[in-house]
Amino acid sequence: MDKFLINGPCKIKGNVSISGSKNASLPILAATLLFDKPVVIKNLPRVRDINTMLNLLKSLGSKIILSRDKKTAKIINKKNMKTFASYSLVKTMRGSILVLGPLISKYHKSKISLPGGCLIGARPVNYHLTALKKLGMKYELKDGYILAKSKGKLVGTTINFPKISVGATENSIIAACLAKGKTVLKNCAIEPEIKDLTNFLNKSGAKIKWKGRVCKIIGVNSLNETEYSVMADRIEAGTFCVAATLAKGNLQINNFNPKIIGTEIKLLKKVGAKIKSSENKILIKGPEKIKAIKSIKTKEFPGIPTDLQAQLMVLMCKAVGKSSITESIFENRFMHVAELQRLGAKINIKNNTATIEGNTKFIGAELMSSDLRASVALVLAAVVSTGKSYINRIYHLDRGYEKIENKLKKIGVKIKRLK
Ligand code: UD1
Repeated sequence: MDKFLINGPCKIKGNVSISGSKNASLPILAATLLFDKPVVIKNLPRVRDINTMLNLLKSLGSKIILSRDKKTAKIINKKNMKTFASYSLVKTMRGSILVLGPLISKYHKSKISLPGGCLIGARPVNYHLTALKKLGMKYELKDGYILAKSKGKLVGTTINFPKISVGATENSIIAACLAKGKTVLKNCAIEPEIKDLTNFLNKSGAKIKWKGRVCKIIGVNSLNETEYSVMADRIEAGTFCVAATLAKGNLQINNFNPKIIGTEIKLLKKVGAKIKSSENKILIKGPEKIKAIKSIKTKEFPGIPTDLQAQLMVLMCKAVGKSSITESIFENRFMHVAELQRLGAKINIKNNTATIEGNTKFIGAELMSSDLRASVALVLAAVVSTGKSYINRIYHLDRGYEKIENKLKKIGVKIKRLK
């Protein structure tokens, strides 16, 4: 299993380009199942989760032609697509559940494995199932599979999500595109990735309108041939902003619209970073002394993303003074804490709040990755640690960050992938 060796502390300086968004690409790729005509998706990140989704589409019968750099995929669906998604494919990526909505909407049946739990919590799919049921899907759970069907087309209705869910909002929007009549979704997630999905669908002839957290969809009979370029990854951009703030960096982040991470930029300015934003780039300089923030709380967009929580915790470890971080989206997303403690961090957890002492002098150590964002937080911590750190199980990082070691090397991090 590959691991990273990082020799810290490192100075961060230079330019970095942000790749396409993984979390926008996944629902967009799943939505291509709705199409009879070819679809071209550009700016895909070259990460493992995207390969998993492309393999899932292939297993369902889609023909996929990848460009040389593998960032563009032309997807052509067969007349008779399969509707079965096996455990072996779904278990490696929870996002696979996003094929349920399009399969039921277009082909009126699907057998798909239940994704199961993961390290950051139980992560059920009940909101997905309840919403699709309201649109006319019938289902039973048997032997770890969702057996779903509908009597012909789904039928538009009003759905009020009991809790904001990114995946359930996406699955329902995709399914409603080809439903009969009007669907009104209330209390939707409004993450930029979801807006990217609806921009893509509208470009293809879908009729989707937003007003705050309400999404109205008028069903259409079919979608048109389209080319679409996926938005840039706001979590990758946020991670590099945190890296520069953490390591007294001087970084230019290219290929990214700073407006999407307004909340994060505001927070980092409070911490002491000097940030200049223009249309498609960010210039960021880290402070000599990082200011502690008393209370940080993750929230749905436009709040602080849970996917940046672990990285911000590393930043608060190096801040002057005490701070706290409350994780309000997932029940068990503090897996990185025990690893940061191995580097010398002083963090206490009570329920879903971590209290961080600050002023930490990290000393390099051997570390274990647990999930995607926890792993990148360990990388950041190793960058500002004294001495060598080894980060094991970096396959978690390969799921969502495109060539992260190359990007980090380019900006001054002494990092090596060991096979
Ligand atoms: C997506 C993102 C993930 C991000 C998360 C929150 C993708 C591929 N993944 O995950 O990176 O961390 O949003 O911003 O885009 N829940 C239920 N029942 C459901 C669905 C969700 O109880 O049917 C709960 C979850 O356990 C969690 C909360 O709702 O506590 C929010 O989850 P959700 O927004 O659905 O996250 P994902 O779509 O899985």
